[in-house]
Amino acid sequence: MKSNKAEKIIQKLWHPTEVRRLARELAEVASTALTVKDRPVRRPRADRLAAQITQRAAKTSDLVGLVRKISEASLALSHARYGAQQVAAPIPAAALVESVVAAMNQSLAVWEMSPIATAIDRDLMTGFKKLFGYPRAAEGSLVPGGAFANLTALLAARDALVPQASKSGKARIAIIVGAQAHYSIARAAAILGLGRDAVFKVPLDAEFSTDVSQVTHSFASARKSGFRKFILVGSSGSTPTGSFDNLVALADIARKQRAWFHVDAAHGAGLAFSPRFRPRLKGLSLADSLIFDPHKMMFMPLAAGGVLVRDGARLFGPLQEQAPYLFGSQRRWPDLGQITVACSQRFDALKTWLVWRVYGGELWDHLTTHVCDVAQAAFQYCSESEILEPVHQPHSNIFCFRLRGRHDRDSDRRCWAIKEQLNESGFAYISSTVLDGRRVLRIVVMNPRTTADDIRDVLRRVEKIAMQMGGEIRSN
Ligand SMILES: Cc1ncc(COP(=O)(O)O)c(C=O)c1O
Repeated sequence: MKSNKAEKIIQKLWHPTEVRRLARELAEVASTALTVKDRPVRRPRADRLAAQITQRAAKTSDLVGLVRKISEASLALSHARYGAQQVAAPIPAAALVESVVAAMNQSLAVWEMSPIATAIDRDLMTGFKKLFGYPRAAEGSLVPGGAFANLTALLAARDALVPQASKSGKARIAIIVGAQAHYSIARAAAILGLGRDAVFKVPLDAEFSTDVSQVTHSFASARKSGFRKFILVGSSGSTPTGSFDNLVALADIARKQRAWFHVDAAHGAGLAFSPRFRPRLKGLSLADSLIFDPHKMMFMPLAAGGVLVRDGARLFGPLQEQAPYLFGSQRRWPDLGQITVACSQRFDALKTWLVWRVYGGELWDHLTTHVCDVAQAAFQYCSESEILEPVHQPHSNIFCFRLRGRHDRDSDRRCWAIKEQLNESGFAYISSTVLDGRRVLRIVVMNPRTTADDIRDVLRRVEKIAMQMGGEIRSN
């Protein structure tokens, strides 16, 4: 029997007046997060704040108040001086429509459960096929992100190279990939039973792209280790530096080596909308499979990833399951559960589709071009700075820089300390990585409202912290 208290909560939860109040007030909290300006990017002592919030949750009945507190205490991704990782300051309309997606709660596993959503998802994928120069016979789906997308594409590749591999569980395939490839490639190799040892890393060139002249050596090493089947992975926007590989050259090598050619364009696919930057993706249409993340340079909120396989049958093959309670009769629309790893599948297509249809691809042209220009301004600033120096010329919106002077363990330590101090100050938020064995600082411009002036302010603050910290900084 229900308690009186539970009875009251239930009546209130579904009461139209209460639902409308919640909708209004939660939308207000969301709007504040989307248009944030004058607050620290990260509140100081975030660990203490988190503890306060979890304790408070047990004592309050004010749901909206709690959500507001969580939002105010969280990292402000829409702050103009947030520039740490490849998570976007979302396009407001796309973020706000998420509650409608949740309210409708359509599952795209089968057409029967999502007749309109399935059609919209298919329309979106048709748009992406055209954008990337893929044929109509290509097939793919939205997935929760690049890691899932790489896994899905490599599953298709595995079964294309070793028919029945998903049945027997046996396949011996080498994966040849640039040294900066995202870890999800190695993880996919582990999950698919290929093994992490089957991943052969190709050295990078001076721009941190896969060194095309070294790729055949990696094939030779893999052959020497007994491999006879291969997947070659190109990168269109690498994670640490946003570097783009020469896809035309890689496609040519893949063809000669009879390898499956996969392109990880999780980060950089959005540049396809920019006539100025689109040439960086030249050769993408030659890939056997590709992935793209609208939640990166298309500025969608999490989650929005995508995978496409040029010959769609290669994707259907390993994902066919017997489930008469779901899949079955032939219809005009496919059951998406038959081409994706997930069963229940969120209607993630809606936000990306709406932005594309309502505002047009030119919006993404402007936004992607802008964030790349801001990264270029950061490069320019560091080139002229007496304290900082660029590590590379940015190909896109990711830029790594470091202190001038000696590059050793001491500079590693200082780079890390500068990032920590800056982030804890709340003024700005950046990240760091290791390139050529040395720690560097890293900016990823993921907010279309970040200006070149904002990024120069961030770099000036970095210089100030470096000067206060002391140690050797020498002009070259
Ligand atoms: C090049 C690349 N591929 C794949 C991924 C994984 O994407 P996700 O975080 O959406 O799973 C990332 C993430 O940063 C990435 O940069």
